[in-house]
Amino acid sequence: MDNELQDAESPPMVFILSSPRSGSTLLRVMLAGHSKLFSPPELNLLPFCTMAERDAQLGATANWLMGCDQRVGLNEAVMNITKMDGEESDRWLQRCVEQNIRIDAIYRTLRTWISPSRLVDKSTLNSSCLLFLERSRVITPNAQYIHLVRHPYSVVESLERSYQELVEQDGAAAEMLWLVPNQNILRFLAGIDPRNYQRIYYEDLVREPKSIMRRVCAFLGLDFERALLEPYLGERMTTGSPGRFESLGDPNFLNHDSIDSRLSESWKAKTGTKLGRDAQHLAAEFQYELP
Ligand code: A3P
Repeated sequence: MDNELQDAESPPMVFILSSPRSGSTLLRVMLAGHSKLFSPPELNLLPFCTMAERDAQLGATANWLMGCDQRVGLNEAVMNITKMDGEESDRWLQRCVEQNIRIDAIYRTLRTWISPSRLVDKSTLNSSCLLFLERSRVITPNAQYIHLVRHPYSVVESLERSYQELVEQDGAAAEMLWLVPNQNILRFLAGIDPRNYQRIYYEDLVREPKSIMRRVCAFLGLDFERALLEPYLGERMTTGSPGRFESLGDPNFLNHDSIDSRLSESWKAKTGTKLGRDAQHLAAEFQYELP
């Protein structure tokens, strides 16, 4: 952890904030195509103060939380940056756990390794709690934020299809998984300089990826690069470590081979869905129709 760049010396970080099933994997893989961005799978760092805490909490949920071990995105990032093999990177991360390295030091190390590229953190867990989002301001006050929003009907449909057991236990779970993260994000962004965040809609992203990516590049102060529009081209940390773990993120991402604009309409399949009052208000704020 020697010779780490301090926050002000590093190019600003970028956080993708969204509810689950909002197309965040697609967006992070698109961004991974830019030569000035390093955009790995879920790092799942922000909710924790130290690596031992992260290991204990995510380790305990490894077999049931979303069906996979939520620690492995960091392994994939470390392997990709350092070119360590799986065992070496496991040992490096295990030492971080044993020495109880602070999470802010892990961020600094990653950012030092990839400098002058910018680190993109797309970890859906970050938006599950306002406190986690607030922590990003302490760790890196000069960060930029992209709020990715998707129609609640599409998110609910995707969650109901993917996590049937959860939805059977609690009929409102899918709606809450759209509502609560978006509420947290709005509360958090209310305290951020508007020049440092941008809201984009999933439906626009898949319908007109070029104009949305141009807008994102302008916001981030980067030149537009064509590879942003080709998420299935080249190495973008979508395969995990074969034989050891699968990549974190949308398990269906690799079932597509291009940006599927038809999914901008998926909410129409759920016409007649009854959302609670808070979700209706928030959907109206995002200017979504709720037929
Ligand atoms: P479903 O596969 O359930 O339809 P997230 O990564 O935030 O969890 O979002 C997952 C959703 O992103 C997917 O949910 C799918 O709708 C959308 N998605 C994934 N790959 C895509 C692609 N190539 N084109 C358009 N949408 C995609």
